[in-house]
Amino acid sequence: MSLERSIAIDGPAGSGKSTVARMLARALGYRYVSTGDLYRALALEILRQGADPYDEGSVVEVAKSVSVSVEPAPDGAQRTMVEGEDVTALIRSAQVDSIVSPVSVYPAVRAHMVKLQRAIAEDADVVMDGRDIGTVVLAESRCKFYLTASPGERAARRQRDYAAQGRQVGLNEVREEIAQRDMIDSTRRVSPLTVAPDAIVIDCTAMSPTEVVAAMMQVVGGADACSTQL
Ligand code: CDP
Repeated sequence: MSLERSIAIDGPAGSGKSTVARMLARALGYRYVSTGDLYRALALEILRQGADPYDEGSVVEVAKSVSVSVEPAPDGAQRTMVEGEDVTALIRSAQVDSIVSPVSVYPAVRAHMVKLQRAIAEDADVVMDGRDIGTVVLAESRCKFYLTASPGERAARRQRDYAAQGRQVGLNEVREEIAQRDMIDSTRRVSPLTVAPDAIVIDCTAMSPTEVVAAMMQVVGGADACSTQL
């Protein structure tokens, strides 16, 4: 286990990070970690407590007082817990979608989450996805990918995810929601979504998840950094 050997995948909403990260983790025998789920769990708790997501003090207080965690699920997916309660399904609501980026901008929240995430990667080889994994959380990783796709394709993929969860949302609405989230995520002061200088950028607009994973496996197989010698 080492932070260098772990694999970082960043990218904007709907780029397909979680699908390919999960597949890549399975192929490598690594643990899959979605860091967004930790921020989503915090957003859920803010909603439950009726705290103001735009008040930094309140959000930081909730982040520091409530235990959020993620654990591997038997099918290679991830289970998200708040104070021991399984909230995996609850963190996918429209309400969580609408406040997760605002609560993720606060520096103290990020510092707390980065600590949790690094502790996970110190304990297991991971394929970790998020917004600041290659730049901050696993800055030492020598296998970094930045996954992106056209805004139209990302919105269409996200709309299909919603449909699978039983949420029927119009394409324009989905487009707006992810554009809004991308704007907040890429312009925040601390650890904005950006391409790490040493990341490999994959535009997967016209690629299937299997093709993306095959491309990643070539890089992983060829990179000393990702070999078992490290
Ligand atoms: O919806 P999607 O799967 O693209 O996003 P997610 O990975 O579930 O992350 C939800 C939100 O959490 C993002 O839009 C960011 O605001 C925040 N996040 C973050 O700030 N840093 C991370 N490493 C991961 C997520």
